[in-house]
Amino acid sequence: MRYQGKHLHHKNLMRIPSHIEKLLACPNAHLPIRVFEERIVCDQCGFEGQMKDGVAIMMESSATSYFDDKYEVMQAGHEGGSPAWNFGYKQQVRLFESYLKPGMTVLDVGCGPTLLYQPPKNCSVIGLEPSFNSIRANKNVQVRLQASAAGIPLASHSVDCVVCFYSIHHMVGTSISDTRTNVHCALKEFGRVLRNGGELFIFEMTPMYFFAMFQNLLWNQARSRIPNLLDMYFWQGNDLRNAAAKFLPTGSLLKITVFRDSVFTVFPPVFSLPWLKIPRFLYPLTPKLYQWKMPN
Ligand SMILES: C[S@@+](CC[C@H](N)C(=O)[O-])C[C@H]1O[C@@H](n2cnc3c(N)ncnc32)[C@H](O)[C@@H]1O
Repeated sequence: MRYQGKHLHHKNLMRIPSHIEKLLACPNAHLPIRVFEERIVCDQCGFEGQMKDGVAIMMESSATSYFDDKYEVMQAGHEGGSPAWNFGYKQQVRLFESYLKPGMTVLDVGCGPTLLYQPPKNCSVIGLEPSFNSIRANKNVQVRLQASAAGIPLASHSVDCVVCFYSIHHMVGTSISDTRTNVHCALKEFGRVLRNGGELFIFEMTPMYFFAMFQNLLWNQARSRIPNLLDMYFWQGNDLRNAAAKFLPTGSLLKITVFRDSVFTVFPPVFSLPWLKIPRFLYPLTPKLYQWKMPN
């Protein structure tokens, strides 16, 4: 469908800084989009998005998301001093903040309802979330996009940094193979939107060997039986590295950081179940940062 007419700036869109609005693109064709009042239109493929409550809805299906009713729990888990904050997040946030510089454009993929880190002044953070309720609640980002990592509504080579804080393991499909395809598409998109020399930060829980074997044996069956409960699949380090080697631009350089903590630290392993707490030594996953620098 093509739209003729005057380019109008609706009050919803005025909240998007103009330098960022220029970076917006069709999530399918990746070409510039046009904005007509609340409507966002791609002349090339006919994609139609909309502005609602300050959120640019940029996905075909805005079906409800697993995280729509969990954002308040997520917000509470990020309060300084909470067990979840002390386990891993504290060190990771410090490391990420030391990388951010004024003037950078950051894309936070799966940003949730709140940012964990404090960006420097003049650093623009674009939040991307499939959960409408989460992204609408996020007051820390400059731009709110309801979209999926598999179809990022930004122009190619438009951001300095992409960060995923524990969102990769939630990009699940109906089977392991489907899940792998989702993450492969996401990696390809990260490589596309990053500028030359830009960096990708993936903070993830990496499963220990026996846990990964167990997960691979049971996941497909469990997912078909309890799809609403099983919304995570943890990637083994080698699988993530191999996928990145295939789907990120050739010449991207990887650095891995492992975050260690006392084995007696007690924390809630599942954000949406804050009452469930276990000691670190019973937890079969290790927090790691996979950080790739794009070639210049
Ligand atoms: C565990 S939460 C982490 C939220 C936030 N980054 C944090 O650390 O507090 C995972 C987030 O990933 C998002 N997510 C799930 N599938 C996604 C996808 N395909 N693309 C982008 N984000 C996704 C979820 O909606 C959810 O908000």
